[in-house]
This record gives sequence, structure tokens and C-alpha cells, in this order.
Amino acid sequence: MAIKLDTQYAVDFIKDGAFDALIPSAKQAFEKVHCPEERKAQPIGWLTLPEDYDKEEFARIKDCAKRIQKMCDVFIVIGIGGSYLGARAALEFVKGTNYNAMKKDTPDVYFSGNSIDPDHLSELLSICEDKDVCINVISKSGTTTEPAISFRIFREFLEKKYGSEEAKKRIFVTTDKTPKPGTLKEFADNVGYETFVVPSNIGGRFSVLSAVGLLPIAVSGCDIDKMMQGAKKAMEDYKDFDVEKNTAVKYAILRNLFYNDGKAVELYASYTPGMQYMGEWLKQLFGESEGKDGKGIFPASVVYSTDLHSLGQYVQDGERILFETVLTAENPRYELTIPQAELDTDGISYIAGKTLHYVNSKAFLGTVLAHVKGGVPNLVLSYDRADEENFGYMVYFFELSCALSGYILGVCPFNQPGVEAYKKNMFILLGKPGYEGQTI
Ligand code: PA5
Repeated sequence: MAIKLDTQYAVDFIKDGAFDALIPSAKQAFEKVHCPEERKAQPIGWLTLPEDYDKEEFARIKDCAKRIQKMCDVFIVIGIGGSYLGARAALEFVKGTNYNAMKKDTPDVYFSGNSIDPDHLSELLSICEDKDVCINVISKSGTTTEPAISFRIFREFLEKKYGSEEAKKRIFVTTDKTPKPGTLKEFADNVGYETFVVPSNIGGRFSVLSAVGLLPIAVSGCDIDKMMQGAKKAMEDYKDFDVEKNTAVKYAILRNLFYNDGKAVELYASYTPGMQYMGEWLKQLFGESEGKDGKGIFPASVVYSTDLHSLGQYVQDGERILFETVLTAENPRYELTIPQAELDTDGISYIAGKTLHYVNSKAFLGTVLAHVKGGVPNLVLSYDRADEENFGYMVYFFELSCALSGYILGVCPFNQPGVEAYKKNMFILLGKPGYEGQTI
């Protein structure tokens, strides 16, 4: 269990002395993340979470997940941004993108509250029509518009379907425990819903290994003990500032180095559809943490070979503003072999008998070499296989790299002031009390 960083497809793009020049700011960033004052001032609780997580609540999450598995066919997870992307990334990474359609003894898991689209919500309601349903509303602030709307709609649905007493047993609330007037915590306690805690010292996009991600992940049948073990291993591996051994530090330096050299876009590439939501999670983690004060690498993601037939042209030949970070599994979860056929009409008999993993690995190598030739530096991060331990490990790796990278860049990686601008306009347009007379 580890992440290996291969820089052989990037070294030719690194100017002499450029890496060493960033080591002092990386050291400062590392010290800042570990400094007790900074850890009090900023939500850096994720740094020690794999060790000091609330063991009682963890046990309650596992019990609750078992109850939910018995109670329902469909589990609706209501949340947006950091309150849903991590869980979805974990589920698709470990269980695959077709989890809901597969034969299993755990509930289907759907995600809601991540848009305001009436069509999407109506589809989910119709899926729930003849099914037994439980919901988990997740919101640190408890006041985010999208999940609040979805929660009202599903609450009404459950109360009509089961009556208010039974509905109460099917609603689970994950929110910050600090009760403020009108917050979700206060509401949940008043009504009597079971609640779980979003730790106050952990921000949304860093919260997947808290109850935010762990309850839905456990409901889907993933082993959350193993996930925390993976994160703990990463915590041990990255506890010291050692540029040679600490891959998280090295990666943070390299991405800043490429950014300083005009590579303003980082393209996260993987070779399995199961990584699509890991890409979405990474986009939020890095985009929301670094894109501020007129600075920041723009994070994008692709799944190859699918996107080689669409964005591949741009990556190979378009504006040279990209570097790629390729995430690759050394071993697949399952293996398939290409069958022999009597006729070679499709022209692939030369690879009959080969495994798909073998072919995928050649697609990876061929693509990396082509993109490097096209002027795109490639960093390759490899992990053993898509399982719970590696997910936990990877989450910690990226959270630490992101915090270090943000500080190296010179921004605070833990706030998101830019997100407020659209919200304010939306509230003015909707006529929210308190926004009267304000202009867009
Ligand atoms: O990372 C963040 O802080 C955000 O993306 C939040 O997770 C997102 O806005 C949802 O917020 P909340 O959990 O308060 O509903």
C-alpha cells in the first residue's frame, strides 16, 4: 500500500535548479501545516484524523450502516461539494461505476442535493417510488441551498410514504455539531433524527474520512476500517520533511514548478472509469483550495482511453499550457482475456489471448510517450489496486499535497471566498430575506 511517483516522463521539462529552488518554500509550507498555532487557526484536523478520529462515533457509523443495509433498497445521499464527492469517489473506486446495477446485498446508493435540476430530482423520486428508502443529509454548515431543497423534498416523500414516526428512523443527518440557531443540528435534535458529526476543524473538501464520507461508504459495503488503515499508513509515510522520501512533498513542489513555467492546467488522467469521481474530487480539492488571489493551477480530469477520442487531440497538439498527472493501478480488480476468433475482421487477432490490463498498460505507455513528445510533462502516480486501503492512502496523500502546494503558491488552501459571489447573486435574485436592496 503506497503511492509511487515516477518522474521519468517529466524530468526533461525541469530546468536546472528549478526543483531545488522550491525546496525552502516547501519546507516552510510543511512547517506551517504542522505548526500548532496554524492548526488552531485553520481547519487542519485532517492531518491527524487517521489516528485521532472519534472511535466511538466510528463504531456507531458501522452499526448504523448495518441497520440501513437491512432497512432499505435505496439509500439517498444528500450533499454537495465536499459533502458528497469523496463518498462517490470511494464508492466508484472500490465498487465500480455499475455498483447500483450489480447483484449485491447492499442498497443502491444515489446522490442528490448536488444540483437544483428538477428533472434529476424527479428521476430519483420515481426510482424510490416502490422501494424502501433511507436518506443521509450531509451539510457542514447546514444551510447550503442545494441540499436543503433536496432534503425538504425527500423528507416530505418519506413522511408521506411511511408516516412521520417511521420516517424519523430513516433519516440520518451529518452536520457540524456546534449548534447555531436555525442550523441543521438543532433541527435534527428537535425532531429526533440520528446525527453524525462533521468535525469543526475539518473543511468540507478535506472531510471524506470523517462521518461525511464514511457512513455512505460503509452502507455500500466498503470496509471503512481498511480505509482508515490506508490513511494511517500514509500519515506515517509522510510525517517527515524529506524531499527524497516524502512523495507528497515532491509532488507539491513539482506541480508548482510546472505552474511557474507556464503550465496553468493540471490534467488528472486515469485509465479506468472507476476513477472518474476521484477526478471530480481532485478538481474540487485543488481548485477550491488554490484558485484564489488571481493565482492557481486549473485542475481538469479525463478518463482514458475514452477521452483520447475527444480531448486527446487538444492534449497532443493544442495550446501548451498543460501538464498531466496520470493515476494508474498496477493491478486491476478483475481480469479478462481477449477471445480468439475464427475471422480477423476487426484486425485484433494479434492480441487475442492477451489480458485487457496488458492492452490498457500499452495504451498508457503509448499515450504518455506521445504526450511527452507533444510537450506535455507527465507525472505518473501508481497504486497497487482499487481497494479501500489504497483509497484511504490516496486521500491522505492528496490532502497533504494540496495543503503544501497551496502554501507554496502563497494562498490559504483552507478558505473559499470566491464561492460566495454566485450565492449572493442567487439570493438577491430569489429575494432571500436579508438581501433586500442589494445589487448584483
Ligand atoms: O469544501 C468546501 O468547504 C465546500 O465545497 C463544501 O463542502 C460545500 O460547499 C458544501 O457545504 P456544506 O457541507 O456546508 O453544505
